[in-house]
Amino acid sequence: MTVPVLEIIGLNKGFPVKNGFGRTVDEVRAVDDVSFSIAKGEVYGLAGESGSGKSTIARMIMGLERPTSGDILIEGRNLGGGMAAAEKRKLVQMVFQNPGSSLNPRRTIGQSLRVPLEAMGLAGRKIDARIGELLDMVQLPANFAERFPHELSGGQKQRVAIARAIAVQPRLLVLDEPTSALDVSVQAKVIDLLVDLGRELELSYLFISHDLSLMRNFADRIGVLYRGRIVETGRSDAVFENPAHDYTRLLIASVPVVTAEEEAVRPKIPLIDGEIPTAEALLALREQERRNPTSE
Ligand SMILES: Nc1ncnc2c1ncn2[C@@H]1O[C@H](COP(=O)(O)OP(=O)(O)OP(=O)(O)O)[C@@H](O)[C@H]1O
Ligand SMILES: [Mg+2]
Repeated sequence: MTVPVLEIIGLNKGFPVKNGFGRTVDEVRAVDDVSFSIAKGEVYGLAGESGSGKSTIARMIMGLERPTSGDILIEGRNLGGGMAAAEKRKLVQMVFQNPGSSLNPRRTIGQSLRVPLEAMGLAGRKIDARIGELLDMVQLPANFAERFPHELSGGQKQRVAIARAIAVQPRLLVLDEPTSALDVSVQAKVIDLLVDLGRELELSYLFISHDLSLMRNFADRIGVLYRGRIVETGRSDAVFENPAHDYTRLLIASVPVVTAEEEAVRPKIPLIDGEIPTAEALLALREQERRNPTSE
């Protein structure tokens, strides 16, 4: 068996809750005993509502946050074991939600792409050619190297962020809501680009989104996070066709339906006071039903 690109084992993260005097009075369990792995070339989708712990997991993988406990292995090597930051950057890169804020407004696109190439020690004369190649890979014209971020659309800026992330030829890209700041029509094109690049470069992706409809065709496997725990995991077609957990059904039920076929398999969610219930209300209702199976 080959070693997974990413392996997460029993990961936990608690944040202290402080009172007005700065004393720790409680702890938020942002990530609670999470384990999953991603194989070479695989797309793993991490879904869950706001506050479920998705970004905290991403930040721990990137080394921006320290786990309370648990292990993160990249190609079999433990991140906690003192892997040098430069070495890690070559293996894992991240694309953030907001393409605007991740690019320096005073640098041209070419200057921004130059930074990782210089850092990896590429010879000066090869850098311009590589910048052209990277722009081509994300389907932007070569003359974009001279442009500034404010001259680009949101989708174009996100393509530049992707070009910068793949510049160092990483094995894994962590994509934290990479398209949620973009128009729906642009979202699909960026996802198509990621699919193509993934195949071409044998990249693995951790694709984080609260939007399950984006995951359906993109992710090979899905993990559904609820309050820091993975409550459901499986191949994405299986999860969509036969969700095991009420919370997953709720997430799928809120996905816009395009075809009659999809409507037929969409789980029916009971409305509470005529409204789609919150995850919490729905789970409380199910719990009540389990306790009183006869009551209607
Ligand atoms: N630095 C921090 N200090 C204290 N609590 C934090 C911190 N970072 C995150 N949290 C808490 O951890 C939980 C998970 O947050 P996280 O940002 O990982 O959620 P998320 O799933 O990425 O949400 P969203 O979809 O809104 O981005 C939340 O309850 C959040 O308030
Ligand atoms: Mg987040």
